[in-house]
Amino acid sequence: MKTFQVEHLKINYKTLEQFTQFYEYGLQELSMLDDLRANLVENDSHSPFYGIYLEGELAARLSLYLIDAKYDRYFQPAQHHYEIWKLEVLPQYRGRGLGWALVAHAQSMGLPIKTNARWRSGPFWLKMGFVPVYAPPSRDRDESPYVWLPPGDERRD
Ligand SMILES: CC(C)(COP(=O)(O)OP(=O)(O)OC[C@H]1O[C@@H](n2cnc3c(N)ncnc32)[C@H](O)[C@@H]1OP(=O)(O)O)[C@@H](O)C(=O)NCCC(=O)NCCS
Repeated sequence: MKTFQVEHLKINYKTLEQFTQFYEYGLQELSMLDDLRANLVENDSHSPFYGIYLEGELAARLSLYLIDAKYDRYFQPAQHHYEIWKLEVLPQYRGRGLGWALVAHAQSMGLPIKTNARWRSGPFWLKMGFVPVYAPPSRDRDESPYVWLPPGDERRD
């Protein structure tokens, strides 16, 4: 598969402007913009987002959060893991391996990963080696959790 350069995105006006192209633009991005305007975060500080640029345009992005083991509800025994949020490839760039490249980048960081397969994206996550986990409605309301363990990791989900 073609390789793409995955970049850790910085919080600046250009990035935040490019975020407006994504369907999932919302409160989180607006709050980052407010923080930048109010000098609560420095220009060019790191964001939780990773992205791929094609032809000068931010074509795909995801956000990645490190979750402390004490908040883990998905692995046994509880462990530090990443949570993927807001994985999105702009429609005109889909089917070229960008989603794969972003998720592979997260997988290269060596920790288990949990995500919520929204928008009927379950088959994509299966392709990426994730497995669905049982989601008790009382715990995971409106969630469709999928998890991934690094190769050779015997810990159970
Ligand atoms: C899901 C999404 C991220 C996939 O990104 P993409 O760049 O188009 O996917 P890729 O080209 O990297 O595909 C990687 C593999 O997954 C497969 N795949 C991609 N989307 C798929 C889908 N919806 N169902 C089944 N398989 C899928 C591809 O065929 C490819 O498999 P292959 O290597 O055997 O050919 C993209 O379609 C998207 O942004 N969708 C809207 C938002 C979304 O659903 N996000 C995920 C939930 S948060």
